[in-house]
Amino acid sequence: MEKREKLYEGKAKIIYATDNPDLVIQYFKDDATAFNAKKKGTIQQKGIVNNAIASKLFEYLGSHGIPTHFVKKLSEREMLVKKVEIVPLEVIVRNVAAGSLCRLLGLEEGRALLQPTFEFCYKADALNDPMINESHVLALDLAKEKEMLKIKDMTMKINDLLKKFFATLNVNLIDFKLEFGRYKGDIILADEISPDTCRLWEIGTNRKLDKDRFRQDLGNIEEAYQEIMAKVTG
Ligand code: TMP
Repeated sequence: MEKREKLYEGKAKIIYATDNPDLVIQYFKDDATAFNAKKKGTIQQKGIVNNAIASKLFEYLGSHGIPTHFVKKLSEREMLVKKVEIVPLEVIVRNVAAGSLCRLLGLEEGRALLQPTFEFCYKADALNDPMINESHVLALDLAKEKEMLKIKDMTMKINDLLKKFFATLNVNLIDFKLEFGRYKGDIILADEISPDTCRLWEIGTNRKLDKDRFRQDLGNIEEAYQEIMAKVTG
């Protein structure tokens, strides 16, 4: 496997080509942003931690029937993945109210939800990733109806699997964001799953073990990420 040119650099990761046109390398950085990059910083070792956590979670989901872009972990900060065309949507599931849902609807953080909620945001930095619904997705041809059926079905299965997985680690999966990609005519799970893209609260205490520690300046950010890595890879 030969690492070649940089194809894309995002806020938290860099994508490199390889000598195989179907595969790319995802490199995890320590850079952290929040509120659409209005807040910027570094979380020491985050790249190493998120690569380890995401690798483990992709393996777990893959072994439970969820197709993902994960091929293998190459090094501390590098993951070999299938080269997908990203569907320009952030798919957000919530099991407990937090973050932007509380702001949107005036809810108290931590309020229980009777069933998971399901949101789409259009990946467009210049517009601050606005929330849209499925009619917008189809009208603007961001994804086909058949693709949306797969995305919704996979997302609900992923929520059930991840909730169970984290519960065994004494962690409550509050909410998370997924991205999907097109690969050889199919839809597969892409991007990453990590404390950057999930809210994770310790069961019993509701101690936050995710990027909200950075967003809200709660301190002990690195320690929280390390704690999740130890639990997940344990
Ligand atoms: P939100 O409450 O800010 O909408 O975030 C919901 C979940 O999605 C939370 O676990 C963080 C994650 N998320 C991302 O991974 N990337 C993003 O750009 C945003 C806005 C949220």
